[in-house]
Amino acid sequence: MVYLKSSEEIKKIKAASLAVANGLKKIRNAISIGVSLKELDNIAEQHAIQSGGKPAFKGYRSYPASLCVSVNHVVVHGIPDDYKLKDGDIVGIDYGIVLDGFYGDSAITVPVGNVSSTALKLIKITEESLLKGIDQAIPGNRIGDIAHAVQTHAESAGFSVVRNFVGHGIGRRLHEEPQVPNFGPKGKGLKLETGMVLAIEPMVNEGTYETVILEDGWTAVTKDRKLSAHFEHTIAILKDGPVILSFPE
Ligand code: MF3
Ligand code: CO
Repeated sequence: MVYLKSSEEIKKIKAASLAVANGLKKIRNAISIGVSLKELDNIAEQHAIQSGGKPAFKGYRSYPASLCVSVNHVVVHGIPDDYKLKDGDIVGIDYGIVLDGFYGDSAITVPVGNVSSTALKLIKITEESLLKGIDQAIPGNRIGDIAHAVQTHAESAGFSVVRNFVGHGIGRRLHEEPQVPNFGPKGKGLKLETGMVLAIEPMVNEGTYETVILEDGWTAVTKDRKLSAHFEHTIAILKDGPVILSFPE
C-alpha cells in the first residue's frame, strides 16, 4: 500500500527531515581525524532530542544506535563503536528522526583528512547519482526512471550500484512502500504520483556491487572490501516535480 501524503503531512515530514539535515550538518562539522564513531552517535542522539523528536533507527528491529556509520568498505548499517576516524577514511553517516509522528531520513558520505582521488570521485559521483535520480521524481514517470538515472550515472563513471539495499517510501513509518531500487530499466515499475514521499538512497561501490553482512547481523560490507559511498534524501513529489525535504537551513 502506497500512502499519498497531504500537504499537512508533507509539512510534518519536512520538519523531521529538516531536523535530520541540521543534525547531519553538526555531525559533518564534528568529523575529523581521531573522533570516534560513538562520539558522532552521541551528537545525533542529543540533536534528535533537542529538536523535539527521537532518533528513528534506535530500537528499529533492535538496531542499537542513533546513526549508521559506515567507514570505507562498509556499505551501510555500520554500528558506531570506539573506532577513531583516520586520515584518508571516508565515512557514511545515515540519520533518521521521528518528530510529531513523522519520519525523516538522510545520509551523506564525508572524506576525513586527505583521501585518495578515487575516494573523492566515488563520493562526488554518488551524490550526483542521487540528484539525477531525484530529477526523475516527476508525476507520470515511473520508479524505474529514478533507478535508471542513478545506475547510468554511477556506471558511466566506472562504478557499480548496490542491488541488495534499496530506497523506500517514508512517512508515518520509516520504511513504507514502494521500494526504490537504484538499478533497472527506465519506464518500468510503479507510476509516480503527486503526494508520494520517498527516501532515495544510492549506494555506489568502487568495485563489485556484491555485499556481505558481517556477524553482528547489521554491518554490510563490499564483497571485495573496496570502497562504498552512500547519499540519501527524503523527497516529496509535487505537481511540478520533486522537492528535497532534507536540505539544511
Ligand atoms: N536509511 C537506512 C534505511 O532506510 C537506515 C535504516 S537503519 C536501521 O534503511 F537501523 F534503522 F535499520
Ligand atoms: Co533510508
